[in-house]
Amino acid sequence: MRVFVADHPLITHKLTVLRDKDTAQPTFRALIEEIVTLLAYEATREVIVEEIEVETPVRKTVGVRLAHPVPLVVPILRAGLGMLEGMVKLLPTAEVGFLGMARDETTFQPLTYAERLPENLEGRQCYVLDPMLATGGSLAAAVQFLFDRGADDVTAVCVLAAPEGIERLRKTTEGRNVTLVLGAVDERLNEHGYIVPGLGDAGDRLYGTID
Ligand code: PRP
Ligand code: URA
Repeated sequence: MRVFVADHPLITHKLTVLRDKDTAQPTFRALIEEIVTLLAYEATREVIVEEIEVETPVRKTVGVRLAHPVPLVVPILRAGLGMLEGMVKLLPTAEVGFLGMARDETTFQPLTYAERLPENLEGRQCYVLDPMLATGGSLAAAVQFLFDRGADDVTAVCVLAAPEGIERLRKTTEGRNVTLVLGAVDERLNEHGYIVPGLGDAGDRLYGTID
């Protein structure tokens, strides 16, 4: 697994505001979107393109466009939905599939409650979006879901990760073509499975508490 951690003052600045418990929901949403667009630039570095001819006002030349099949962007509901717009800004012709997952807050096991994805993902570059990589259970299950549908080129984009989650994903995807793009790696998980220092519950901060 390749791991890229953004080391850019603008991303760190935006992350600092995200971490602040007093940051209001609209600002939190806007910042997640902005950070994802910055991370998407790195995440799409290996996106497959094909050459096309283009006629400028001066002469013909050769450029590129996204190859077919176009990439599939997969936000993990709920919190990953907050990253979708930021990602498709850079990949406007990509298609979007959805995975709904909720972590059991006692066992930390992910429960998949929704799925709307193409049956066959062979030859498809897949970009999975989830702001938080904590124990890694949710992301590992999501990536396995894509493998089971034939995907063999998966890039996961997360805003924050714990070292424990990165290691879990590394182990569960050994020998596979997986890239992980991160805004930052935090210290550790606490006893509740939360990233420390983290930013709290990303889904709640984006969309409000459910229970
Ligand atoms: C959060 C987060 C990840 C998961 C990370 O989602 O968005 O999907 O927890 O934890 P893990 O790495 O230990 O699996 P949550 O299950 O809280 O659902 P939500 O997005 O609906 O809030
Ligand atoms: N899910 C979150 O939203 N935040 C964490 O810190 C861990 C899991």
